Amino acid sequence: MDQSLAEFYRKYSQQIDPPGIPSGSVLRHPDVQLTLERRFFNQPASEYSAYQAKILRAVVERIQQAIEGNDEEEVSDHLMTLLATLPHSRPTVDLSKTLVSYVPPVGFDADIDPIEILEAKKIIGSGPNTGLRTWEAALRLASYLHSQPELIRGKRVLELGAGTGFLSIFCAAYLQPETVTATDGHEDVLVSLEENVERNSHHYQGTSHPTVQRLYWGDEDDLSRIIRRRGDATQPGPSASDGIDELSTTQGQMNYKNQLSPSSTERPYDIIIGADITYEPEACKALAETLSRLAKANPYTDILISATQRNLQTLSGFLDECHGPDCGLRVEVVKYDVPPLNKQTGLFHNIVSPIQIFAMRYSPPEIS
Ligand SMILES: C[S@@+](CC[C@H](N)C(=O)[O-])C[C@H]1O[C@@H](n2cnc3c(N)ncnc32)[C@H](O)[C@@H]1O
Repeated sequence: MDQSLAEFYRKYSQQIDPPGIPSGSVLRHPDVQLTLERRFFNQPASEYSAYQAKILRAVVERIQQAIEGNDEEEVSDHLMTLLATLPHSRPTVDLSKTLVSYVPPVGFDADIDPIEILEAKKIIGSGPNTGLRTWEAALRLASYLHSQPELIRGKRVLELGAGTGFLSIFCAAYLQPETVTATDGHEDVLVSLEENVERNSHHYQGTSHPTVQRLYWGDEDDLSRIIRRRGDATQPGPSASDGIDELSTTQGQMNYKNQLSPSSTERPYDIIIGADITYEPEACKALAETLSRLAKANPYTDILISATQRNLQTLSGFLDECHGPDCGLRVEVVKYDVPPLNKQTGLFHNIVSPIQIFAMRYSPPEIS
């Protein structure tokens, strides 16, 4: 595929706006239009999100402008039919879910099977639904982990506030962890998280299938279940039980089944990750305490938190809590520069909103 078309394809699949639509002189060629039909615009028009419809319109307009006055070239029948049958308005599109594809930041000539996340791309603000879309801080942390794969390779990974599951799924698909446990505190988010983990099952070859668990920060039962479970891999089907609950879904219903193998209690998490989870002042204390409890359970555990700086007071309140005497976490800023959007090759995200990654570890008080 032409380089500009390959870049457009990746950005369009991740629903980046604008996606860098190639010039009309590239798009008008019949073989390029065939690629557009087969790879970009291959669903029935009734299934198009507002974003997809907008890009289809822009593409056709660009082709039309490029071929004006040339009787031998035309917009393909397929694209014209799609355009003519697009629904006119979609009042609820902002809350509806759409399938978003993400590939790691590698050269456009690399043919990478993307991970696919079903998410409500246009959700904004706070509330119990924020986890139904993937946020820029997660893309930033995934880019960083992709640049430092040894942080994840062979490691037992725990994610807090996993939302759509993008970060956990990304680690399991591309970075070869030993195990991944994705947690969240909200029931609707857990259902969609579980579905996204399943949706990407074909990616977990040679690495364990991520496990989904409920962990509401500050909930003592959730926390002790996670600490006892630690970095254990998913067991296929019910197995030895000691009262530990694992989350699964059946037709959108939440079920809890016992699935702990006895050996799991000896296997702590190596790394805890979290993205865009430091935005609610009321939740930050509980989050800091949760991180501290997990880190105290294994002082060698690394913690990486990617934070979008929306409200500096909330963020500094969280950091103060973390390195205060109760939590005892040592906090450092990770130096990581992401190229600007027009130089990125995957995990596209804007760098206008400041995002920082913090590395933490438990630092036991010195004995005097
Ligand atoms: C802004 S979203 C980020 C989701 C994901 N990490 C990402 O970056 O795409 C915040 C996530 O934290 C979860 N969350 C918020 N408060 C929580 C709490 N008290 N306990 C556990 N999870 C919580 C939400 O359900 C949501 O999934």
